[in-house]
Amino acid sequence: MALPTADFEFVTSFARRSAAIIIEPGKDYFVESRLSSLASSNACSSVPEFISLLRKTPPSNPLHNKVLDALTTNETFFFRDIAPFDALRETIIPKLITQRAAQRSLSFWSAASSTGQEAYSLAMMLREHFPQLSDWAIQIIGTDLCSTVLVQARAGSYNEFEINRGLSPALIKKYFTQDGKIWTANAELRRMVDFRPMNLIEPWPRLPLFDVVLMRNVMIYFDVPTKQAILRNIGATLQPQGSLLLGSAETTLNLDASWQTVGLGRATVYQPVGAK
Ligand SMILES: C[S@@+](CC[C@H](N)C(=O)[O-])C[C@H]1O[C@@H](n2cnc3c(N)ncnc32)[C@H](O)[C@@H]1O
Repeated sequence: MALPTADFEFVTSFARRSAAIIIEPGKDYFVESRLSSLASSNACSSVPEFISLLRKTPPSNPLHNKVLDALTTNETFFFRDIAPFDALRETIIPKLITQRAAQRSLSFWSAASSTGQEAYSLAMMLREHFPQLSDWAIQIIGTDLCSTVLVQARAGSYNEFEINRGLSPALIKKYFTQDGKIWTANAELRRMVDFRPMNLIEPWPRLPLFDVVLMRNVMIYFDVPTKQAILRNIGATLQPQGSLLLGSAETTLNLDASWQTVGLGRATVYQPVGAK
């Protein structure tokens, strides 16, 4: 049965207002399927009944966060779309090592990190390929608006399906410990990453100036003014020679003229205009 129009519109405007997530008209099935288990766990016999409960619940109630968690798409995996990691390993990080030799510090941001695979991939890559960084101050920050994914990211724990998406048996053996059907990142890897809550459309907290920002597969959910505002904010929190890596379906082109593109292998890297 189709969702009543008023219910669908209530949920789509909630998603837009809270996270800038656009749910296109006609995606009733998406809303139904994402909210059905919350409906059951809140003793509602249908999604419309659950939405009417939500309407009566004040925004400060944790139920609103749970709905937002349910509506976000958290798909991710280790070394996703390998090209950006190749560009980091072959060109971006070797160059940064020269540029930052005096400070001996590097900072990375996995914005919209989901369950943490991107941040841990970066940590493993640094350990595997750049032993000379072992006594540098390395900061890898992961942020996401969804609280449930952050719990998993901080734990660094993955099930059999997740651990086998993108990792070789050798990396699993070296960096994870297995307990039954759960693999957990070792303490050294977990110490390298720091996961924090952050909604990209709310006022940004104080952040360090980053050398590299990975903000992949999240702008696709936003409208043009939201993408433009986020790109402006990223420009302000990136080192002048820093690099921004976006998802393969995302770009700064026709959105924000303050970025230049550099092709590195199969990856496109975005840098502030004038960066060398
Ligand atoms: C598809 S995942 C991408 C994960 C990872 N960056 C990757 O490419 O594999 C998108 C993530 O963006 C997060 N997200 C969606 N809207 C957001 C917002 N307004 N602020 C912060 N994170 C958001 C979701 O919670 C989700 O974890």
